[in-house]
Amino acid sequence: MIKKAVIPVAGFGTRFLPATKAIPKEMFPVLDKPAIQYVVEEAVASGLSDILMIVSRGKRSVEEHFDRNPELEALLERKGNQAERDAIRHISNLANIDFVWQKEMLGLGDAVRLARNHIGGEPFALLLGDTIIQSSIPATRQLMDIQAMFGGSVIGMETVPLDKVSRYGIIAGRKLVGGVYRVDGLVEKPAVHEAPSNLAIAGRYVLTADIFSCLEQISADGKGEIQLTDALRILLQQAPMHGVLLDGRRHDIGNKLDYLKANLWFGLQHPEIGKPLRTFLLELIAETECGEPSPHNLESDDESSHSN
Ligand code: UTP
Repeated sequence: MIKKAVIPVAGFGTRFLPATKAIPKEMFPVLDKPAIQYVVEEAVASGLSDILMIVSRGKRSVEEHFDRNPELEALLERKGNQAERDAIRHISNLANIDFVWQKEMLGLGDAVRLARNHIGGEPFALLLGDTIIQSSIPATRQLMDIQAMFGGSVIGMETVPLDKVSRYGIIAGRKLVGGVYRVDGLVEKPAVHEAPSNLAIAGRYVLTADIFSCLEQISADGKGEIQLTDALRILLQQAPMHGVLLDGRRHDIGNKLDYLKANLWFGLQHPEIGKPLRTFLLELIAETECGEPSPHNLESDDESSHSN
């Protein structure tokens, strides 16, 4: 039975500079919540409320987001803003969250290594803090269900266009049943002609604690990073591993284009702003097809601006 989740949020986020110089990408808002809140909510909805976050310098705001803020709660109470007060309190009550510091950002593998003491010998879930997965069955739960059936470690996967495989960790596997594959190999960011498939690792894992001894065996790559995929390859030699095609939509908020897409995706589904946003987008597309968008027109559409 899996009880613990690890969420690494310590990375520099260089793909999103300069925005990430002082603000963690995991705290970037997606519609009205920071990205990391979606990830924690997914863990909790999957039945995991014992969470370890791997943090680093400059990520205090992530810790603060999940801490209580009694002054703010009291202020909202005095003003009669019960809904907002409840929403603030809900965040701090979501889960038991512990934090471990990654002192040097030596890659995802190094971040996971730091969870060893907290995890002990049990299998655990690993959720990347910069990846939101929207689904009816929480993505981590989907992996946990497959792990309960097959045991061992399970990797969440998605199919990606063949010409984009070099951006991802790619899995070689044999289809067993439905979206479940037996993993035969893993390769990090392969060249298009060397990729064994278009099955990409999608930021969610259920791992046995053997991953920690595998991580001890690997050294840093050419960029000085300890790659989790290298350790997974060793783990695969020791025990069967499965991949499952996740049923849901993945948003990688660590790069600009996908971050913007995520905001549009969530915005379009919002009961209040979804419709006007759609209208705006259609107008914008029509305008850009006729030339450059006019800044004046864009500003005049802002219905929510304050008058004071
Ligand atoms: P990324 O692979 O996106 O790396 O990390 P990054 O350093 O954050 O971002 P770029 O590539 O420079 O733009 C995936 C997840 O693993 C965490 C990140 O915070 C992110 O949530 N991570 C990455 C760590 O916790 N420590 C690391 O050393 C690297």
